[in-house]
Amino acid sequence: MTVAHPLSLLTPEEVTTAKAVLDAAGEVPDGASIVHIILVEPTKDELAAWSPGDPVPRRVEALVVPGPALTMVKLIVSIDEERIVQREVIEGQRPTLLMGESFLVMVACTQHPDYIAALARRGITDLTHVQIDPWPAGSFGYAAEEGRRIARCISFLRMDETDNGYARPIEGVIVHADLGTGEVIEVIDHAPPGTDPIPLAPQGSRYDADHAGPLRTDLRPIHITQPEGVSFTVEDNLVRWQKWEMRMGWDPYEGLTLHQVHYTDTAPDGSERRRSILHRASISEMVVPYGDPGEVQGWKNAFDAGEWGLGRMTQSLTLGCDCLGEIHYTDVTMATEQGTPWVVPNAICMHEEDFGIGWKHVDLLTNRHEVRRSRRLVISHIATVGNYEYGFFWYFYLDGNIQLEVKLTGILSTQGVRVGESTPFSSPLAPGLVAPVHQHLFCARLDLDVDGTANRVEEVEAEVVPMGPEAPWGNAFRPKATVLAKESEAKRLTNPATSRSWRVVNPDKRNHVDRPVGYKLIPTMSTPTLLAHPESSVGQRAGFARHNLWVTPYAPDERRAAGEFPNQSAGGDGLPAWTAADRDLDGEDVVLWYSFGITHFPRPEDWPVMPTEYTGFLLAPFGFFERNPALDVPPSPPGPCHAPSGDDADGGGGCCST
Ligand code: CO
Repeated sequence: MTVAHPLSLLTPEEVTTAKAVLDAAGEVPDGASIVHIILVEPTKDELAAWSPGDPVPRRVEALVVPGPALTMVKLIVSIDEERIVQREVIEGQRPTLLMGESFLVMVACTQHPDYIAALARRGITDLTHVQIDPWPAGSFGYAAEEGRRIARCISFLRMDETDNGYARPIEGVIVHADLGTGEVIEVIDHAPPGTDPIPLAPQGSRYDADHAGPLRTDLRPIHITQPEGVSFTVEDNLVRWQKWEMRMGWDPYEGLTLHQVHYTDTAPDGSERRRSILHRASISEMVVPYGDPGEVQGWKNAFDAGEWGLGRMTQSLTLGCDCLGEIHYTDVTMATEQGTPWVVPNAICMHEEDFGIGWKHVDLLTNRHEVRRSRRLVISHIATVGNYEYGFFWYFYLDGNIQLEVKLTGILSTQGVRVGESTPFSSPLAPGLVAPVHQHLFCARLDLDVDGTANRVEEVEAEVVPMGPEAPWGNAFRPKATVLAKESEAKRLTNPATSRSWRVVNPDKRNHVDRPVGYKLIPTMSTPTLLAHPESSVGQRAGFARHNLWVTPYAPDERRAAGEFPNQSAGGDGLPAWTAADRDLDGEDVVLWYSFGITHFPRPEDWPVMPTEYTGFLLAPFGFFERNPALDVPPSPPGPCHAPSGDDADGGGGCCST
């Protein structure tokens, strides 16, 4: 039982071995839950020292919750030596919400007399199709919640098993439950006795094909064929595509992680250099804070990485539906809460996409045209976190660009109102149904190693030269680069008006025009920051989202932007705490943390299921290459150019070069 590389994906056998070691040591008492068993990634130094053929040391981290108390035990298990090599007891913090406990709490709700009574007031006496959603509780200083692991449950009514429950919120009923003991602490009915509760919305709204109304009949098939196969290879978790090379990793919280991203640079004379760009990239955290101030909705916020887990919530993908064309799927292994291997088949989807024009020019003197197709390698996974879907799509392009696109879809979190009423903090969707405003704020952790680890971060933006002797025509502007030398200087906001971006350069590696080689982080989409007040509960807990950019020097244990255990945390962990040291950045091994996302004012068109909305960013070479790296892409072979329609048709013959 050996793996090929220190970063090879965790295997089911390793999970089994780890569990056996934990059992033998008596670390998994009856009633304990195993929060995770994850690969301990080797540090950068360890990876640099490792060569093919060397032994592959493997260690995993197990996080065990022995019982209802706020005690967790973190154990590092050596798989090779089959022994525990490190043991740490963590007091006073909470793990992510556990599935088994959440289920028990849902059952406890349906059996509680106050819950049954609250639903009866709303005309619901048959609880068969009541849908109960446990939410992370946040931290609001309730005395009864001290020392406990809490979920707040909200409810919806389905008309039958497959109905869309979010169409009928059971408004005003919130259950505070203890996940550790499975007890209901309190059923809160926000409709005071003697008043009429907000009724269920009068109509349902389903999104499946049987309930969408007449379906279109004029969509003809699109087939994507690659008759000679794909242009990438996957060996273990090592991906090679064109000049790119990288390893795929997996984390229960971050989901897909990318490691050791390299590009083999071919100089015009044909010489090749394998060059480092990114050591590790992932989504380190995300938060969805809601903007309604009322007591029924105002507590709602969710850290979907730290409180749920973008890896844990990932679903298997289906050929032809989620992914089109020649697809390579990768299964991932995590651990169940009992410590058995939990394999998610087809969790990661990989394929190539034609991406339109890569570059083109028509010489108007000779009427010669040169055009090349753009193509990208797509590595993706999709997490279903409660009502929402989040797709994380990493793109690698022929021209050296790296892009992350996050696709948001799924179902809005809804609120019931009286028919005809609305609130300033929500959008009406249907009679008696609104959706509160909210944000989806992601934080990508980007450990760039641009031609090595000693890097520098510069903020680059347009500087207008005042009209005067230097700019007599008043037209002058130039790029201004400011070195972000300390952590305190590197807490930055985007500025579209000045085209602000951040360039990571290697000051010791100069290019052919004597500039340091670099890669640039470009905000390409909307970049809201956290709107909640800094002193608010979520404002304290989601400090990472108050700036678009943070930069830290590499530290292996600084992984998650809101800290390791955001669930019910008081806040301040993660980036705000680490950067308080105000460490030096210039010439260091820098890690960029980029917060981006969407402020969502829901639309009627987002209902009953939301058309995919997009956010993300771009990493583009800036003086990393000597010239357009896609110059060597050959012209496409003459295709059947279907005249007169077809966007790339040129009437036959060689399409792409004359
Ligand atoms: Co939304």
